[in-house]
Amino acid sequence: MSLLTILEFPDPRLRTVAEPVEQVNDEVRRLVDDLFETMYAAKGIGLAATQVDVHRRVLVVDVSEDRSDPQVFINPEILHRAEPGPTQEGCLSVPGIYDDVERPTHIRVRALGRDGRQFELEAKGLMAVCIQHEMDHLQGKLFVDYLSELKRQRIRKRLDKERKLRASRPAQSEAGVPVI
Ligand code: NI
Repeated sequence: MSLLTILEFPDPRLRTVAEPVEQVNDEVRRLVDDLFETMYAAKGIGLAATQVDVHRRVLVVDVSEDRSDPQVFINPEILHRAEPGPTQEGCLSVPGIYDDVERPTHIRVRALGRDGRQFELEAKGLMAVCIQHEMDHLQGKLFVDYLSELKRQRIRKRLDKERKLRASRPAQSEAGVPVI
């Protein structure tokens, strides 16, 4: 396994739309393993392949407290969405920034697992939010796109400034706020 570099906003590569996976082979499984290693090292609860500059429809999630529930979604599709509500989101590609986003908090999703088998899952709350946040990444979309242009410009300036101060730094979760 290897640790991959996470792209940061406003890197234009984060705007790439990912291609579906045709076959879940060893190469895809290696990508899944690298995504998990990178996500856990960065203390995130989700990571999409787009964020490591691999433009395939693959994402990984672990919303458990003790990091014991790795879940893989290959070619994910949302079959049903319900109960929109506000949630505070952060993102490994937008380090240190947290803001409210309104999304459905109950979804039904269909995807392929690491074994290539199709499954369906009902997800609620943080899990539902996390899957949708990562699926946005696969479409080249970031959570800051839901915010106002003014806020986005401020975030961009703040990140530019921080990048100048420090060449690179891991994203850190602020008191209990998930970094997706
Ligand atoms: Ni993210």
